[in-house]
Formats: sequence, C-alpha cells, structure tokens
Amino acid sequence: EPEVLRDKTLMRSWSRSRRCNGQTIALVPTMGFLHEGHLSLIRTAKSLADLIIVSIYVNPGQFSPSEDLSTYPSDFSGDLRKLSAAGVNVVFCPAELYYSASVKEFGGHQEAINGEREGDSCLEDGGSGHETWIRVERLEKGMCGTSRPVFFRGVATVVAKLFNIVEPDVAVFGKKDYQQWRVICRMVRDLDFAVKVIGSDIIRDVDGLAMSSRNVHLSPTQREKALSINRSLSKAKLAAEKGQKNCQDLKDLIKQTISEAGGKIDYVEGKILRINILSQMQIVEQQGLSPVEEISCPVVICVAACFGNVRLIDNLEID
Ligand code: PAJ
Repeated sequence: EPEVLRDKTLMRSWSRSRRCNGQTIALVPTMGFLHEGHLSLIRTAKSLADLIIVSIYVNPGQFSPSEDLSTYPSDFSGDLRKLSAAGVNVVFCPAELYYSASVKEFGGHQEAINGEREGDSCLEDGGSGHETWIRVERLEKGMCGTSRPVFFRGVATVVAKLFNIVEPDVAVFGKKDYQQWRVICRMVRDLDFAVKVIGSDIIRDVDGLAMSSRNVHLSPTQREKALSINRSLSKAKLAAEKGQKNCQDLKDLIKQTISEAGGKIDYVEGKILRINILSQMQIVEQQGLSPVEEISCPVVICVAACFGNVRLIDNLEID
C-alpha cells in the first residue's frame, strides 16, 4: 500500500530522510485519472530509482479560464488501486499548491506585465497570492503554446514547485506531451535543478489512439475520427523512411488522411471560431522544436486536433 501524503512539509521530510539513507527517488508528476500511459511512466521510473513517488494534482496554473479545469476527470480511489498494484511508495496529493489571494487586488496585473490579453490562468493573482512564474521563453511559444498561451508557464512552475518539495533524483515525463517534456528539460538545464529528466514512450490503445485522460470525453464517432491522427502520422513516417524528405509534402499527406476521415474542420475550445485543425501540425527538430522544411536531422511530427470540445495531441519521432 502506498503512503498517501497531502502535506508538502511531510512530503519533503519523507524524501530527505530516504535520501539520507542513500536511497534514490523518482517522481512521476500527474493530474490523476490514471491510465496505462501513466503506469508505463511508473515502470520506467522503477528501472531508474529505488523509491517511486507519484504526484496527483490538477494544476489550476496551467488552465486558462476558457479551458476544462472544472470538467477534468478524476477517480481518486481508482487511482490509488492502480498505484498500489504498480508498487508505488508514496502518492503525493496536495489539496492546494498555490497561495491564494483573499482579495483580487491587482486586476489586470498579469496582462500588464505579459502584454497578453489571454494571459490569465484559472489561478487568481493578487497581493497575498501567487505571482512567481517560470517561463521557458522560446520553447513555450510554439505549437501548443499558440492555442494555450499560459499552459507551459503553468506546467513549468508547478513542476519546479514539485521538484522543490519532493527533491527527486529522477523525474519521468511522457513523450506524448513532447513539447512539455522538452520545456521541462530546458528549465532543468537552464536553472540547474539537480534532477535527471527522462522521456518515456507514448502508450496507445489497441486501436492506435494515444492514451489520454481526456479520451473519456470522446463520443464513439469522435473517437473513430480521432484515429485518423495516428494513422496519418504513421503514413507520413513511412513515406519519410521511403525517401520523402520534403516536409510540406509530408504535411499534405497528413492533411489528406485526416480530411478523408471527415476530421477536417472543427471548433476550438468552445469559441465560435472555425479553424482548420491542421493549422496545428508541425514538423520540428527533436531538441529545440524549430520547424524544418527538409528532413535532414531527427525530427518529430506533432499534431493537435479538436474533436468536439476535446483537444487531442499526438506525435511521432523520425530519427
Ligand atoms: P497528465 O496529463 O496527467 O500526464 C502525466 C504524465 O503522463 C505526463 O508526463 C504525460 O506526458 C504522461 N502521459 C500521458 N499520456 C501518456 C501516454 N499515452 N503515453 C505516455 N505518457 C503519457 O501532463 C500532465 O499531467 C501535467 O501537465 C503535469 C506534468 C502533471 C503538470 O501539471
């Protein structure tokens, strides 16, 4: 049975005492509603450290007010059962990780500093509240950062907080969220965190759909359409391996595959904005995520697509 800790001071002293005994600690940060993808990170973590801590915290700092914070799925007792079976040592599930403002004193404060109209996260800022953010300036802007302007700022900040509380030797992230993994790697490098960051492979359902806590929100029809994402990525990778090096041609191939499945146009995050879902498809080099026109180095093809109100992401590396 894993120990469940909710208090950050207790969490830190648990870690410190184990580390004093010479044991190594791996942290797997999650937002709960665990599936096989999360469990595979735990298996990776077990091969790297003596003790495994899984955090469960739905981070308000990475959701913008128009996003799905309030409907984010949860199943704590189910999660505990899975974590127990997976042989996890501690489940860290803080009720709240941010200081909250009693009065919303500085309205528009965030916007003034960042020059962003949509700069607000679900977190209220204010005099006694949270006002320190980590920004990985270039990496946070592309791809998912375009449609989710506060997302990576919130992710980097909460992960830095978790690193400071848990003080792990190793932390494991899924390559399913490829940009997130790279943002964390860069933050750790730039700020000299004493944590080794490991990327773990994408886990898919038998039908090929990348596992995600958000998949429960898909209707059967939407799910069927969503399979075109992975299908298109596999086709593009095969074409690249057969010698197709031009990224525009590869992107056209992906576009064609998804539109044949009827997934061409959709709505984004409930706004009355019709966009081509394929505007969020990029072929970028694997380290710095800069777009490439010809495949001449290891790249990753990244796709984000909305089906109904469900935003899905997937990617495929070509080495
Ligand atoms: P969450 O979406 O719960 O994901 C937790 C971890 O599981 C992330 O590292 C994610 O990449 C990984 N993961 C999810 N689905 C996966 C799949 N199908 N295959 C492999 N890995 C998968 O990502 C977050 O939470 C949050 O942003 C967090 C890092 C916890 C910060 O709040």
